Amino acid sequence: MTLTSEPVATKQLTLPDELVLMLLNEESGYFHQVPGWHLNCAVVGAVLAELSLLSRIDTDMDSLFLLDSTETGNPILDSILKEITEESDQRNAQYWIERLAPRAESIVDATLERLVELKILEYHEGEFWTLSRTAWQTELSGSADEGTAAQFVRTRIGKVIFNNEIPDPRDVIIVCLVNTCDVFRFMFQLEDRDEERINLICNMDLIGRSIAAAVSESLAGPLLQRSALTKKIPVVSLRRLVLNRHLRAGNFPALFADLAEEYGPVFELRPPFQDPMIFLAGPETNRWVHRNGRMYLRTKDYFSDFEKVYGASGVLPSLDGADHFRLRKSLGPAYSRGRLMGQLDQVYKDARTHMADWTVGDSYPATRMCRRMINAQLSPLMISIDSQDIFDDLTVFKERALNVHILKVLPKFMLKTPSMKRRIKILDQLVEKVQSGHTPAQRVGSPRDLADDLLSLHASDPQFVPETNLRFVLSAALIASVYLGDAFSFVLYAMASKPDLYKEIRAEADALFADGDPDAGAFRPQAIDVTHRFLMECLRVYPIVPVSLRTVMNTCVVEGYRIPIGSQVYIAQTAAHYMSEVFPDPLKFDIDRYLPPRNEHRSSGYAPYGLGTHRCLGVGWMELQLAVNVLLVAHHFTIEVSPPNFELGFNPLPSMKPSKKLKFRIAEQRRELNV
Ligand code: HEM
Repeated sequence: MTLTSEPVATKQLTLPDELVLMLLNEESGYFHQVPGWHLNCAVVGAVLAELSLLSRIDTDMDSLFLLDSTETGNPILDSILKEITEESDQRNAQYWIERLAPRAESIVDATLERLVELKILEYHEGEFWTLSRTAWQTELSGSADEGTAAQFVRTRIGKVIFNNEIPDPRDVIIVCLVNTCDVFRFMFQLEDRDEERINLICNMDLIGRSIAAAVSESLAGPLLQRSALTKKIPVVSLRRLVLNRHLRAGNFPALFADLAEEYGPVFELRPPFQDPMIFLAGPETNRWVHRNGRMYLRTKDYFSDFEKVYGASGVLPSLDGADHFRLRKSLGPAYSRGRLMGQLDQVYKDARTHMADWTVGDSYPATRMCRRMINAQLSPLMISIDSQDIFDDLTVFKERALNVHILKVLPKFMLKTPSMKRRIKILDQLVEKVQSGHTPAQRVGSPRDLADDLLSLHASDPQFVPETNLRFVLSAALIASVYLGDAFSFVLYAMASKPDLYKEIRAEADALFADGDPDAGAFRPQAIDVTHRFLMECLRVYPIVPVSLRTVMNTCVVEGYRIPIGSQVYIAQTAAHYMSEVFPDPLKFDIDRYLPPRNEHRSSGYAPYGLGTHRCLGVGWMELQLAVNVLLVAHHFTIEVSPPNFELGFNPLPSMKPSKKLKFRIAEQRRELNV
């Protein structure tokens, strides 16, 4: 099969390309649920088969022979060819499949990258892939077609299976490999006679047959090995835990980094009167979660009691698999940087109006000041409503619900107190207000907001986004204000306590606003280099979401430790922020870490936005809004930490924020706000 669309040069797809395309499930944005080892064997089998079609190797049932060691020009194939060339003993196909299977992950990565480069696949944040439409041409008939590559391959394979067309050798191998992965049943409606035809095809070609046989003979391997080779998860001594200096300061990421250093990347805490907690901490476990989490971990369980408090079920953070991908795709534009870029004038106006209430000489509690400033912008942007009057109440309610149902540090009745009942009524009033302000007539001429997107999803598919979910989803804008507001309070603390950096950020701000308010294009990382690296370092040292919770749904082995099904795991994704092998001298605030050649953030150890499929959907939005706000403050005000000798402590539950005692004093107003 050949890609004909310009500007990409005409390119032949390889068997690994075609296998990946066959296995991609457009609904979930990932592969059909092929167990890891099966997928690995099939991918390696595809590489070997391609090498044999290119006459570099040959196989029979007993041996795999090297015919020609000349490179093919395709790095994926050539790295495997090299390994075969360097082996002096003659081995069979099964030996090679088992030996190469651990490399399948990197082959899949490189294949996905290649397909994205060829514009056959589109990559989406959170490790999802979808298919792009392209023009295709068959070599045999020369006929051209328009559609996605996977449709094209599937149609071709479908014809071979259902129309009794004579398959060419590539099709035979693809049929064998897909059959080995046992995913035809997800792609086609198969009758008995179709299965017979598939078996017949699989027997047509010797190469395909020997590889498929080797793959299926290798399948039992990991299941047998799984329990024999695993290590026992170490249990953290409670005494060591309570003596840790970072626990006392509330710095959870640094605490988990210390524990990982002492006990390894997987360890267990057994707090009195609570279920055991299994922690994953470090760059390797981060990489595992990012890549494999979707197969083994589920979010639904830990989130369901929390969403129930709002009467909701199946909101974005609690969904898994295809439903999650569908909702994430539908809401992507609402949380995108592009949506915010279109409304920067509104952001400047709302931020300045808010800052106009600050009085020089006065001090303000840091988290409240910052949360309210962010909410003054986020609420109108996302739900077209000013929610400053109810923001404090709804935040208290949400934090109480998190402490009761996610962290389980408070008893359930704490959500039934009269003040909590009053607050849930306020939530209902908010939903009513948003709904009544979002009738088509009232929205004429207004830029689209998150509430428009959610309400239209609800109208078009009330089963997918039911009315019972509106309380939760329409108040999500306020929840985002808490996270972003707390990040902003750390940012202002870092700026106010580091005069040299304050000066540099201010210089960038003054240059940016010199000719009036800049448009969104001005906030490119190159244009605000210091501010950008400063914000990255703030999110490393002061991550807001240090840990994510999941339930193990399939037994898994992580870094040699077997994690049993049903366990709740605490993914301490930000522990690596405080590990010296990832970020040398981790307690030092150093914005030069992000410059080449250091590039310390380019590893799985930098994870302030989470990992894998649920990685923060608002990253682009958040980065822009944070940058705009810190630059606006630096341009207009000099702020100081109050009291001046304040030593930063953390309040880590339910998410990280500075301790309540931190205040900001408005020391100087540098220019008019003109509101
Ligand atoms: C500094 C501020 C923020 C931080 C540190 C942050 C971090 C995170 C993290 C770690 C997750 C994943 C949680 C998990 O794995 O269970 C997440 C999810 C999410 N975040 Fe953020 N976030 C921030 C601000 C925002 C903002 C401003 C928005 C909206 C514009 C937003 C939208 C979302 C959404 C929609 C999800 C759920 C994604 C999903 O479940 O697929 N976040 N965030």
